Amino acid sequence: MIEAHRLTKRFGFFTAIAEVSFRVDEGEIVGFLGPNGAGKSTTMRILGGVFPPTSGYARVAGHDVVLDSLRARQAIGYFPERIALYTDMTVREYLGYVADMKHVPAKQQKREIERVMDRCAVTHMAHRLIGTLSKGYRQRVGIAQALLGQPKVLILDEPTAGLDPEQVTEVRKLIRELRGHSTVILSTHILPEVEATCDRVLIINKGRLLAVDTPSNLNRRLRQLSQIHIEAQAPVVSLLEAVRQIDGVVRVEATHTDGNVVSVLVSTEPTKDLRSAIAERVVRQGWPLLEIRPVQLSLEEIFLELVHRRDQVPASQEVSP
Ligand SMILES: Nc1ncnc2c1ncn2[C@@H]1O[C@H](COP(=O)(O)OP(=O)(O)OP(=O)(O)O)[C@@H](O)[C@H]1O
Ligand SMILES: [Mg+2]
Repeated sequence: MIEAHRLTKRFGFFTAIAEVSFRVDEGEIVGFLGPNGAGKSTTMRILGGVFPPTSGYARVAGHDVVLDSLRARQAIGYFPERIALYTDMTVREYLGYVADMKHVPAKQQKREIERVMDRCAVTHMAHRLIGTLSKGYRQRVGIAQALLGQPKVLILDEPTAGLDPEQVTEVRKLIRELRGHSTVILSTHILPEVEATCDRVLIINKGRLLAVDTPSNLNRRLRQLSQIHIEAQAPVVSLLEAVRQIDGVVRVEATHTDGNVVSVLVSTEPTKDLRSAIAERVVRQGWPLLEIRPVQLSLEEIFLELVHRRDQVPASQEVSP
């Protein structure tokens, strides 16, 4: 239903996204996850027809978003990151205006507007001026306009940003209720959000897609990463170097130094328990080992770790702009 093929977008010399390819099947709810500036909105703007890619192509419901943009856009409900709502219109007037723009047949407009207002729980606000609504209600009106005309594909750019916890729960529920009716791609930088709502997740960082998987697989895969905390009395540079040389060590960083006591965080390959190897190496150098223990990672930390590890790809493997 959505097909992105090697999408690249440059702004001047800056590459916002590079070679981004993925598919979203009909009826799927897919989360687009990544830190600030990762390229989520850029990708979604290309899908939504806001601007074309520098290279690559995308199809939505079989229509190329550049070559056949009108038909592609007709298949899409788009909730942009910074939505411009007409503040001097009432909710109902605004939705009527959007329904016109989307060519919802006049006879069906009233019922369709009622339907999306009901879906987004804004019916009681129908006669309020948008300018007087709270942030959460504006967000709901924004989502309501995306739902108008029952588009096959919904592109929701951070639909829960700026909402209070109760509203977040409601929006997530709303998105889950779309399952089976629409194909959805939604962006977020909150990991539990994709776990709560999505069938699959795309992880993007610095314009590159890092992983595509189901939340549970990703969880399992990422959870296998092990970290070990050690504390030793040693010269910091020599200690880091000695630990780094151990087979199975992925990354070593000093987290704290206090006099000649150094704290070090060691990231290792998932399948290996390197505690004894590390202990042996440190002690063999004659450095007193004060502490060694495994570190439990939260999901957020695992995500950052994945992002971090990919950052260490040698420059020669990066595609230059
Ligand atoms: N019109 C533009 N001109 C120049 N640079 C841009 C433009 N739009 C986006 N960028 C840059 O492209 C990169 C990706 O931005 P994008 O908005 O896609 O990130 P994002 O993943 O949506 O981040 P956030 O989570 O903060 O919304 C950023 O470094 C941003 O500064
Ligand atoms: Mg964004």
